[in-house]
Amino acid sequence: MDDLKINKRLIMTPGPVSVDPRVSQAMSNSILGQFDYEFVEIMNETMELIRQSFLTTNQWSFPIDGTSRSGLEAVISSIVKPGDEVLVPIIGRFGYLFTELVTRAGGIVHNIHKPMGEVFAQEEIIAALDKYQPSVLAIVHGETSTGRLQPIDKIGQACKERGIFSVVDAVATYQGAVIPVDKWQLDAVVGGAQKCLSIPSGITPITFNERFSEEINKRKRVELGIRSGETTEQDHFIRSNYLDLTQLQDYWSPKRLNHHTEATTAIYGLNVGLKLALSEGVEARAQRHEYHHRGLKAALEALGLDIFGDSDNEMKMVICVNIPEGIDDAAFRDGLLRNYGIEIAGSFGDLSGKIWRIGLMGYAVNKQNILTFLSVFSLYLSQQGVTGIDPTKAMDTLINYYDNH
Ligand SMILES: Cc1ncc(COP(=O)(O)O)c(C=O)c1O
Repeated sequence: MDDLKINKRLIMTPGPVSVDPRVSQAMSNSILGQFDYEFVEIMNETMELIRQSFLTTNQWSFPIDGTSRSGLEAVISSIVKPGDEVLVPIIGRFGYLFTELVTRAGGIVHNIHKPMGEVFAQEEIIAALDKYQPSVLAIVHGETSTGRLQPIDKIGQACKERGIFSVVDAVATYQGAVIPVDKWQLDAVVGGAQKCLSIPSGITPITFNERFSEEINKRKRVELGIRSGETTEQDHFIRSNYLDLTQLQDYWSPKRLNHHTEATTAIYGLNVGLKLALSEGVEARAQRHEYHHRGLKAALEALGLDIFGDSDNEMKMVICVNIPEGIDDAAFRDGLLRNYGIEIAGSFGDLSGKIWRIGLMGYAVNKQNILTFLSVFSLYLSQQGVTGIDPTKAMDTLINYYDNH
C-alpha cells in the first residue's frame, strides 16, 4: 500500500490554514493516559494558556473536543433551555449558525439583520436588547463569510446591566485580534483552532465566567453510571450529554469526573500552539495580521480589484474582493489550486459566486507567502482574460509597502 502523500500548498483561505511544524511535532508524541499525572499537568497548563489567550481570569477556560461549532453548540445548548428568548444579530452566515443552534436547543430566536458587508452599530444591538428583552445575546465577532468585524466592546456590559448572558463566536478572530474577555465583560466566548491560532481543526478553546457557570449549573445532570449522591437532576436539564458544559466542568477540574476520553494529541497541539501564539504576544500577533492585511489590500486595489464590504469594519484576517466580471468562481479557484497549489475561498448564500475571501491567518502570514500569493494570483487572473488589471502595479505596491513599513 502506498504511503499517504500530501502535496505542498499555500493556503490563503479563512481556514484551515498551515500549521507550525512545532505543533505537528508535538502532536506526534506518545499517548498518555487521560488521568496520568503528567497529562493532568498538561491539561492544567493548557487551561492557564487559554485564560491568557482570552485575557481572562475565568477559571472555566478549557477546550471542547470537536471543531469550533462544537464549542458554539456546547455554550448554546448549556445556556438556552426550551422557550428561552435569544437575540441573534445577523451580518452573515455564522449568525445563521447561532440561529440554528438556538432553534435546535428549543430557544426562540429574535434576529436583527444588516445587509451583507455591513455591521451593526453597538447602539442598535443594545436597542434590540431593550426591545426583545432576551435571556441571551449570541453574537459573531468576526463574520468570516463577509469579512466583517462586529464591534462588541460595549455589548458585554450592556448585557450584564440587563441580566442578559452574552455569548460570542470569536472563532475567526481568536489569536488574530485582541479579545479582552474580562475587560469587555463577555460571559462566554468561543475561539477557533484552525484559523489564526493555526493548529489542526478538531479542538475548540472556550471560556466562561462564574455568572454563566451559576446559570448553567441550574440545569446540571450528571450522567447515569457515574452519578453520586450530591448531584441532582433538574426538570430542564441540559439535553446534550457530550456538549454539556457542567459535566465538562467536572472533567476539567480537580474532580476529574470521567466524561469523554480526552483527545490527547489534540491537547498537545493546542498546548504548543498557544505557547507559540502567546510567546509572539496577543497584541503583537494582532498587529502582524493588521500589517499584512494593509499591504495586501493596497496591492489588490492597485491590481484593480474591488474590495468588498464596509471598510471601517473589516476583519484583518480576511480580505474579500468582488470576483471580476466573466470569471467563473469555482473554475478559477480550482485552476489556482491545481496549477499552483494556492487555495483561496469563495463565500456562501447570496455571496456565493460573487466574492472571494483571501485569508491571512496565523502561522503562514508572512511577507514571502504574501508576495508569492500576489504574483501568482494576479498573473493567473490576467491569464484567464481579466482585463483592466495591472499585476506590475500590484507587485510594486506590495514591495514598496514592505520596503517602507
Ligand atoms: C465565524 C465562524 N464561526 C464558526 C465556524 C465553524 O467552525 P468549524 O468549521 O470549525 O466548526 C467558522 C468556520 O469557518 C467561522 O468562521
